[in-house]
Amino acid sequence: MTVQTLLKMGDPRLLRVAQPVQQFNTPQLQALLQDMRDTMLHANGAGLAAPQIGVDLQVVIFGSDEPNPRYPDAPVVPRTVLINPTLTPLDEVQEEGWEGCLSVPGLRGVVPRFKRLRYQGFDEMGSAIDRTVEGFHARVVQHECDHLMGVLYPMRVKDFSQFGFTEVLFPGLDDADD
Ligand code: NI
Repeated sequence: MTVQTLLKMGDPRLLRVAQPVQQFNTPQLQALLQDMRDTMLHANGAGLAAPQIGVDLQVVIFGSDEPNPRYPDAPVVPRTVLINPTLTPLDEVQEEGWEGCLSVPGLRGVVPRFKRLRYQGFDEMGSAIDRTVEGFHARVVQHECDHLMGVLYPMRVKDFSQFGFTEVLFPGLDDADD
């Protein structure tokens, strides 16, 4: 088990456009994914992108198969490894929702996201993934894939009256690690 250091906002490595994975089902890719799983689990994250541990590759993981303590009321998102993703919004409809990020600890903000989208990519074996999702699942995918384009959620906040410290906005929420 290797919990890696999470890069925090301000680190220029979080602003890079990540490189596509060229080879699947390799020991290097499996090791990266294990580090990402360990790091996400340790921090109670809803998702994690490789750039957040300093790895410049288009790899994200998200989902838990069980409720996340940081988002106790959120619908369960299936445990997913998504590599070299492409996102296609199904229409123009956006909805607002609260987000946090392990690279922006202690803060939350309201971010508009496409409500419905299709996402495509590959798992760690190179098998194709093609899903059409909405709501929280769609939000998580957009947040994580933004990391691959060097975008952190505060860069998408429109109304900074809905941005602040988690302990103030949501007193009592079990959120010690973020
Ligand atoms: Ni994030």
